[in-house]
Amino acid sequence: MKILVTRRLPEKAFALLKSHFEIDCYDSEEAMPREELLKRVADKDGLLCLLTEKVDAELLSRAPGLKAVATISVGFDHIDLKACSDRGIAVTHTPGVLTETTADFAWALLLACARRVVEGDRFLRTGRYKAWGLTLLLGADVHGKALGIVGFGRIGQAVARRASGFGMRVLYHDSKRAEAGVEAALGVRSVNLPELLRRSDFVTLHASLGLGSAHLIGEKEIALMKPGAFLINTARGPLVDEAALVKALKEGRLAGAGLDVYEKEPELAPGLAELSNVVLAPHMASASVETRTRMASLAAEGLLDVLIHGRRPAHMANPSAATAL
Ligand code: GLV
Repeated sequence: MKILVTRRLPEKAFALLKSHFEIDCYDSEEAMPREELLKRVADKDGLLCLLTEKVDAELLSRAPGLKAVATISVGFDHIDLKACSDRGIAVTHTPGVLTETTADFAWALLLACARRVVEGDRFLRTGRYKAWGLTLLLGADVHGKALGIVGFGRIGQAVARRASGFGMRVLYHDSKRAEAGVEAALGVRSVNLPELLRRSDFVTLHASLGLGSAHLIGEKEIALMKPGAFLINTARGPLVDEAALVKALKEGRLAGAGLDVYEKEPELAPGLAELSNVVLAPHMASASVETRTRMASLAAEGLLDVLIHGRRPAHMANPSAATAL
């Protein structure tokens, strides 16, 4: 069986694949150019990819023998699931293993923008620190405030668990309400989105990007947020109308934002990079050595399950696909 691996993999994941497949690997830290991807996928049975590779009808039409796609990500909005399912292609992803690491990073962004950590770093490096100042780089307290979590799946709940150490009131919004036991254990309250936006000092997004969730936070929603609130996004860029966010940040209606993902990633909306009250990260919320190793291994196991063992993988994104598994 032949597989295409679109990026250099951690050694452990590569070793899992080596003895079972003929591997064509784009052995680089950079994303594979689209034309090369389309060419090299043509004769493959399996594809191990990242969220930078769009798996759409065009790609599938170039790879008539493809039986499995494994993405090293929890999100799969870069994959046309219906087109894969129609062709009997199993799609696997990597939920679970990145939950805690991503929640840690949402907090890193929240704390960094509330307490102006990056601005402080720049201040020092540019030689501007002359003496301790009573009003130097004043930020906002985090403890005791209200945290609004939009999307209350694994990652949203992991973010909520961390909030108790900060003595925060936690509200959440999700189309599916959590079980009463979960709400009680985490001390969280389910509210609708407008109420969450009106009441929260910090709003953090953990929803997936699917039908109807683009611009979940648009101009109207931003207008509902508390003056001086912060927005954190470690989920997907298109959930937020970035132009409306830039406007609110420029006008000082919002105090700050911590962003790991962008509407037109890797491009930034005009004006975003010039704002001092935003902390920008290059989609790195799951980027710990341990977690990225686990994600790559889980994706490799997904390919092995489908192509070698002929069994249903642990995390199939299209379980209703007409595969023989
Ligand atoms: C990262 O964004 C992922 O979906 O794993």
